Amino acid sequence: MPLAGRRIVVTGASSGLGAGTVRLLAVRGAHVLAVARREERLRALADELADAPGRVVPFRADVTSDADARAMVAAAVDALGGIDALVNDAGAETQGPIDALPQDAFEAMLRTNVLSVFLCTRAALDELRRSRGVVVNLGSTVVARPPRGRFGYVAAKGAVEAMSRGLAVDLGRDGIRVNCIRPGIVPSELRGLTEAEERARFETGMHLGRQALSEVGDARDVAEAIAWLVGDGGRWITGAVIDVDGGFTLGLSDPNPRAS
Ligand SMILES: NC(=O)c1ccc[n+]([C@@H]2O[C@H](COP(=O)([O-])OP(=O)(O)OC[C@H]3O[C@@H](n4cnc5c(N)ncnc54)[C@H](OP(=O)(O)O)[C@@H]3O)[C@@H](O)[C@H]2O)c1
Repeated sequence: MPLAGRRIVVTGASSGLGAGTVRLLAVRGAHVLAVARREERLRALADELADAPGRVVPFRADVTSDADARAMVAAAVDALGGIDALVNDAGAETQGPIDALPQDAFEAMLRTNVLSVFLCTRAALDELRRSRGVVVNLGSTVVARPPRGRFGYVAAKGAVEAMSRGLAVDLGRDGIRVNCIRPGIVPSELRGLTEAEERARFETGMHLGRQALSEVGDARDVAEAIAWLVGDGGRWITGAVIDVDGGFTLGLSDPNPRAS
């Protein structure tokens, strides 16, 4: 069991990539504090994984609140005995060009995507120093290939990526590794549609034309990369920015991907 007994906090665990990450980590033997605001979803996830080798403990927290971030860490210490890895997955997006995006929506994106990484990592620092632990932050390939009308989210994820590299430098002497995973386009609730609706958009070829592989990625693909980074395989990797994107950042724009 590659992650047996590893104690991992995953934020953004109530849906999408975070929930997929909790599933994979628990199946591989890790004990996971699953964190988000929608408690009923977290409880359902814990119930679903009740027979997994790793334990899943649901915990309600708003990652934009310092008090909640500290309570999250206290809950991890209480329930799991400490923290070996922190996965900062919580994120949100409001789309719109600069003359249409309200200031509070821009600030909210910075709080949810960027401030959350600062607050949760800072709160977990003593535990991570004790365990010589790992932080994985969720960036995005939109930083390399910005789509129209999403500059605010691009800015927020650019900050996450840069912060990951800066923190890798600052925390390396403590034995703490910090890396950034940049997913490509993965069907989820992030863009305000249901996961099924998002998946259906791939059927039109709309997203597929922009990536090299013709398979639609899913949460499991991203979770595999996270599991590798938090495990022994990632022992010498820090400050890395890793694309998990089916080749999205290669820059294709194929108008008829089904024909090729
Ligand atoms: N899907 C993609 O194509 C894609 C691509 C690149 C990067 N990403 C990044 O991957 C991460 C996961 O996204 P996803 O696609 O899985 O989207 P999602 O299904 O919408 O998940 C977002 C998660 O973040 C949580 N969250 C949002 N605000 C929060 C807050 N203030 N406090 C605590 N939790 C909060 C949500 O839970 P609650 O609402 O229950 O709090 C939810 O669990 C995000 O950082 C996203 O930016 C996704």
